[in-house]
Amino acid sequence: GTVPVLCVDGPTASGKGTLAARLAARLGYHLLDSGALYRVTALAALQAGLNIDAANETAIAELARRLPVRFEGDRVLLNGQDVSDAIRSEEGGMNASKVSALPAVRIALVALQHSFARLPGLVADGRDMGTVIFPAAPLKVFLTASAAQRAERRHKQLISKGIPARIDVLRADLEARDARDMNRAVAPLKPAEDALLLDNSSLSIEASVDQVLAWWQDKQ
Ligand code: C5P
Repeated sequence: GTVPVLCVDGPTASGKGTLAARLAARLGYHLLDSGALYRVTALAALQAGLNIDAANETAIAELARRLPVRFEGDRVLLNGQDVSDAIRSEEGGMNASKVSALPAVRIALVALQHSFARLPGLVADGRDMGTVIFPAAPLKVFLTASAAQRAERRHKQLISKGIPARIDVLRADLEARDARDMNRAVAPLKPAEDALLLDNSSLSIEASVDQVLAWWQDKQ
């Protein structure tokens, strides 16, 4: 039968990852963190000595097509090595944004993303889940929050991990990444036409989860 897919798209640090993980746990569904695939691709390219630019598009796409990536709980393994911390850095995010603007890389990752859609269902987190990867999904949520809120949340996260950070620098970085994601030619960050918008600037994570679960019930 068809696998139900719930898409959660939105900009950097909007809280997509947390929301998607909670939704998957509540529904007992699989989880696709598509951003991690772009992050791992960028890391694999750098490890192979490739600069992340259009000149290496074909070579990077080739790496992406046979990406030896595995997810174990919240850990991400590349070639069996735990690269979770390496890919989650701000630099890792910026590098991911660069590889993700290369059309051949996006195409190379399509089949892998589709393979996550298995029964009983999937929660897919990214930028183009609803627009490109799972366009027939019954529910597409586009999650937003103000840039100020997002920078503040990211700042708290980093500080709690003992990583020093400045809010103004984080905000400039996330706005630069969003601008690249929104303005690229292929699969730009934008809500699907039938997406439901959720601004969580002043919502708790629990309230966001409950809102999306209510929408999901409506679709059944
Ligand atoms: O969501 P996350 O911050 O991990 O994504 C890292 C980068 O990967 C994003 O800034 C974006 O450029 C890219 N990305 C993408 N399409 C997705 C998921 C992530 O282009 N579906």
